[in-house]
Amino acid sequence: MKSGVIVSLVKFGAGGKIFSGAWLFSLICLLFTILAMSSSGLCSLAARSGGTQSVEPAARLVPLPAPRYDSQFSVEKALKTRQSVREYRDAPLTLAEVSQVLWAAQGFTRERKEPPSRWNPKYEWQGGLRTAPSAGALYPMEIYLLAGKVDGLPGGLYQYLPKQHALKKVTDADKRKELCQAALNQPQVEKAPAVIVMAAVYERTSYKYGERAERYVHMEAGSIAENIYLQATALDLGTVLIGAFSDPEVKKVLALPADEFPLVIMPLGQSPAPLEKK
Ligand SMILES: Cc1cc2nc3c(=O)[nH]c(=O)nc-3n(C[C@H](O)[C@H](O)[C@H](O)COP(=O)(O)O)c2cc1C
Repeated sequence: MKSGVIVSLVKFGAGGKIFSGAWLFSLICLLFTILAMSSSGLCSLAARSGGTQSVEPAARLVPLPAPRYDSQFSVEKALKTRQSVREYRDAPLTLAEVSQVLWAAQGFTRERKEPPSRWNPKYEWQGGLRTAPSAGALYPMEIYLLAGKVDGLPGGLYQYLPKQHALKKVTDADKRKELCQAALNQPQVEKAPAVIVMAAVYERTSYKYGERAERYVHMEAGSIAENIYLQATALDLGTVLIGAFSDPEVKKVLALPADEFPLVIMPLGQSPAPLEKK
């Protein structure tokens, strides 16, 4: 059957005459071109599914306002004023405030073209250095924003993409109530207009550092949390580092990927009174 088709094709191609070498050559070239096109398509798909943060179609992204790199609020003043705030004004956050705090958490500060040595090829290299230090510049932390009341941002769960300085929508559902239950019913989680969650991808760091990765990742969570505290203070926002929660419950509520583990929850809202006067 197959050979019959080939013979007819050959006859057709050669105008019914004996098959010529030039026709065979053209046919083979055509087949190679088709194969090359389809395999390059497959390769790009494979690259996009290689990490938790792949380049997303623009339509699914919410661009954030550009962060500010300067202010009248000194680092010293932020350090002196910083405190844990567990009650918030009943007012929405602005997108600019959310943008600034997310940038302080994991935003890009400098470009870096090449991935660091011993980069786990399972993940996509994002191409930048960030506001918080990271062992081997391997950046194991994913930052999520659970938005309830943020001006200009529909409620739901978003993932912060440092490279694009944008939010990627994960789900429409506002799960602050469920997250509060997973955090041993600490009410600030449900009452805050937005909640930041840090989730660690240990495999990014353990690929290079083995067992020592665990302590490195936890140190990084502390650095990022302090950045969030200080930036929130400078914006007159309140936050608190929450470490008391059920890991499996939080993972379930946020439907985190298998390789991501929640480490820190930080509710964020307007301070009830100026922090300096508290
Ligand atoms: C690792 C860690 C875990 C924490 N967990 C919680 C928590 O689950 N709930 C909470 O309300 N505060 C939590 N805190 C905040 C501390 O209670 C707070 O930092 C401490 O009381 C000192 O107050 P200050 O932050 O205002 O200086 C945690 C702090 C750290 C460093």
